[in-house]
Amino acid sequence: MTTAVRIDASRLWQTLQTFATFGATPGGGVTRLALSEEDKQGRDTLRAWAQQAGFHCEVDELGNMFMRRPGLRPDLAPVMVGSHADSQPLGGNYDGIYGVLAGLEVLRTLNDRHIQTERDILLVNWTNEEGARFAPAMLASGVWAGVFSRDYALGRQDRHGISVGEALHHIGYAGERAARAQPLHACYELHIEQGPILEAEGINAGVVHAAMGQRWFDITIEGFAAHAGTTPMNLRRDALCGFAELVLAVEKIGKQAGDDGRATVGMAQITPGSRNVVPGAVFCSVEFRHPELQVLNEMEAQLAQALDTLRQRNLRLLSEKIFDYPPLNFDAGCIRRIEKAVHSLGYTQRRMVSGAGHDACYINRVAPTAMIFIPCVKGISHNEEERISPQWAEGGANVLLATLLLAANES
Ligand code: HGY
Ligand code: MN
Ligand code: MN
Repeated sequence: MTTAVRIDASRLWQTLQTFATFGATPGGGVTRLALSEEDKQGRDTLRAWAQQAGFHCEVDELGNMFMRRPGLRPDLAPVMVGSHADSQPLGGNYDGIYGVLAGLEVLRTLNDRHIQTERDILLVNWTNEEGARFAPAMLASGVWAGVFSRDYALGRQDRHGISVGEALHHIGYAGERAARAQPLHACYELHIEQGPILEAEGINAGVVHAAMGQRWFDITIEGFAAHAGTTPMNLRRDALCGFAELVLAVEKIGKQAGDDGRATVGMAQITPGSRNVVPGAVFCSVEFRHPELQVLNEMEAQLAQALDTLRQRNLRLLSEKIFDYPPLNFDAGCIRRIEKAVHSLGYTQRRMVSGAGHDACYINRVAPTAMIFIPCVKGISHNEEERISPQWAEGGANVLLATLLLAANES
């Protein structure tokens, strides 16, 4: 057993279970949408825990929460850790929040052991990573990294027409601080893998050196609402039948892109959505992912062709790309620190590419960044059955602690 500093595993597990009550669902998961009452409950609790530990908490204009553990050298750029606390609808208890609470556990452990680091450590909770309530994903970290404008983000609306700005004010998290990048020495995001590899291979830590690129499209299919009883089949402009063709075309685009191809229609709304009305319109989402930029371009071109084909059904098609970031590589120096930290703990490791998007993907544009994965059961995520073991939770937090001690003590 190495002499490395280790976190308090039972305190971390208890913290995770407490947080899982904010938006708990009967199916054993969580619905804690960004800027909802459940999100506010979590935010208030996180801020109280941080303040009890002596960390100053600042909130920026997008509701991003920055909890600071001071180092000996406030003149040096800090090290950042963190993730997100918002979930998918009927999501899991660990996606995002595990990285935030493991970060809190690391800082609590430094306090317990009276360890002073050279650099300040910033623990962050990013607003609206999932993009489930307010599209697109990674919205607030995107503003911080200069990808989206503040006004664009504050104006994004949910399905009920409530804007990000209104929701922030409603839950009391519209901060004063500008949502703008500051110099960072390094940034680390600890996250569950959301895939099956680490568990299947019995490996403790994933060293995430790259991430797939993503593209999201909002698509409106316009036909003509008509009486289901009096409108002959040959006179219909049925938007839902067009939608059905589109869904299968998107699936085909994903399958044709090879093993790393991802294509999903995740959300659809039918108008007027009545049993005896031929659907007049369908609003839906389409998203693609791939580790190669050229293939993403091909997938987007194939989508345009599929929409052209639908126009032959005498339907009107509108498509807006609302999210687009290329495949990326994380920082080599950050990666090396993780590998050194994992080794110092005597854990096993493997390099990985993330199929999921993360706030780290945008922070990587403005600061040296990398990610650490822990296993999750059968790779299940974005599902109420998302599970991790207390041992996996502990191992990931120990890796984060060891990595932070390396980064935060570099002059
Ligand atoms: O969609 C994603 O990749 C992330 O979970 N938001
Ligand atoms: Mn996540
Ligand atoms: Mn997610």
